[in-house]
Amino acid sequence: MSEHKERLEKMRAEALLGGGANRIEKQHAKGKLTARERIELLLDKGSFQEIGMFVMHRSTDFGMENQRVPGDGVVTGYGTVNGRLTYVFSQDFTVFGGSLSETHAEKICKIMDMAMANGAPLIGLNDSGGARIQEGVNSLGGYADIFYRNVLASGVVPQISAIMGPCAGGAVYSPAMTDFVVMVQKTSYMFVTGPNVVKTVTNEEVSAEELGGASTHSTRSGVNQLVAVNDVDCIAKIRQLLSYLPQNNNEKPPIIDYIFGDESRPALDTIIPESSNQPYDMKEVIQELADEDSFFEIQKDFADNIVVGFLRMAGRSLGVIANQPYSLAGVLDVNSSKKAARFVRFCDAFNIPMLVLVDVPGFLPGTDQEWNGIISNGAKLLYAFSEATVPSVTVITRKAYGGAYDVMNSKHIGADFNFAWPTAEIAVMGAKGASEIIFRKEIGNSEDPEQKLREKELEYAEKFAHPYRAAERGFIDEVINPSETRKRLIAAFDSLENKKVWRPGKKHGNIPL
Ligand code: HXC
Repeated sequence: MSEHKERLEKMRAEALLGGGANRIEKQHAKGKLTARERIELLLDKGSFQEIGMFVMHRSTDFGMENQRVPGDGVVTGYGTVNGRLTYVFSQDFTVFGGSLSETHAEKICKIMDMAMANGAPLIGLNDSGGARIQEGVNSLGGYADIFYRNVLASGVVPQISAIMGPCAGGAVYSPAMTDFVVMVQKTSYMFVTGPNVVKTVTNEEVSAEELGGASTHSTRSGVNQLVAVNDVDCIAKIRQLLSYLPQNNNEKPPIIDYIFGDESRPALDTIIPESSNQPYDMKEVIQELADEDSFFEIQKDFADNIVVGFLRMAGRSLGVIANQPYSLAGVLDVNSSKKAARFVRFCDAFNIPMLVLVDVPGFLPGTDQEWNGIISNGAKLLYAFSEATVPSVTVITRKAYGGAYDVMNSKHIGADFNFAWPTAEIAVMGAKGASEIIFRKEIGNSEDPEQKLREKELEYAEKFAHPYRAAERGFIDEVINPSETRKRLIAAFDSLENKKVWRPGKKHGNIPL
């Protein structure tokens, strides 16, 4: 018996060592943790159950039969995060550079199938040199098996990808199809073709960091949703993110205990500036409405004219989508529409109720926007809100102009409650622009055109720059004081707890991608 035990212990010790002490040291020297250290941090202490520790590749080309490491460069299994079942794979860069072989892919697929079957989130910790070069098409097939499962799992269980080292070539497409990508600053990068190929093909000189580092993707491409300063921060962010999410699409997000107090928020009564052209920080509104320290922003540095993220209200998880007057006056443009549409679809897929805060002067004009498809990109957001059946509540704080009024979760496209602050201006456009168009002749013919314009502006504003026309029609359910907003929202979301919606049967819609 002890002989058997000894054998097992020896094999386990070998597997735990991955690519060996030297390579582990190199990994640490780069400021990176090992695959196993990352799992230890991610899962609750002692909860990790490994699967496939002794899996080895079957390759015999290039002398590979003599280089076999148990586990084959990826550690897989399950455990708990804050007591909730979670599946994980963690690529081991110390074994063949974490490269993906046929068997490495099989291990990942096994875990993905289990996550779907048991309805629990899947976390991928990526740190890999890409396709195992010695294996050729076997490795490419392995990638495709993973991609296919990413799509099957999409909308079934939350999928989160951490990029904690290289992620290049077609390998980027698995993370890209998951719900959230977290990148670690300085030690990770993602690109389809690296700097050398870029130099050969386009003659551009660019570093890996500039081409596909965390900052590039968080500010320019929008490929990642979160940035971490190091591995520890990355794992902490994943744990925090999971706390807002349900385990799968058949569950509701967790509600944590909350003790009610004075839920009025008097600070909100003075947050809207005197002049409607003056900006204010919508994040302050969000902080006031949310439970203390519960706001968790997503894609903070990308298209910051719209704010998206999770928060808790009386312990309930909500997704928030809010125009940000501080940036570009809160207009909708190509990037903000894409960012918000993707977030709305995530919330809807996973039963996370949505709070929508509106202060939007319209869509951004200009050739850049038109040529980059503001029409089809703006339509994505309109489509996403219209398609959503999850409970949603809209609050118009100030401007809701033009098409953007319709798009930002108006009553007409399915919002459950639409509130407006007394400062709301719901109109086709601002009073000045409107007067310049409809009273052009009258203003032009007058003795003092400037004075006439001001008069007409006032007349238009009197008629439309308030929420009461919309409230008359029932497009706004109630005009409320800012300070009472939190109370109203808590009651509204409570009342929507068991909301059910009927939709026509179809295979799937055709969102304007
Ligand atoms: C096999 C690999 C490997 C790979 C790295 N290694 N990448 N082995 N297949 N793809 C091995 C190295 O031989 C080395 O082994 C160890 O991993 C560590 O690699 P180093 O080069 O020493 O590390 P570093 O200097 O940090 O550089 C990391 C790297 C570099 C930038 C990732 O290794 C690299 O460029 N690798 C090749 C990347 C690549 O072209 N992959 C294919 C992309 S195409 P030893 O034994 O010396 O420790 C692709 C297509 C996917 O992925 C398609 C999906 C549809």
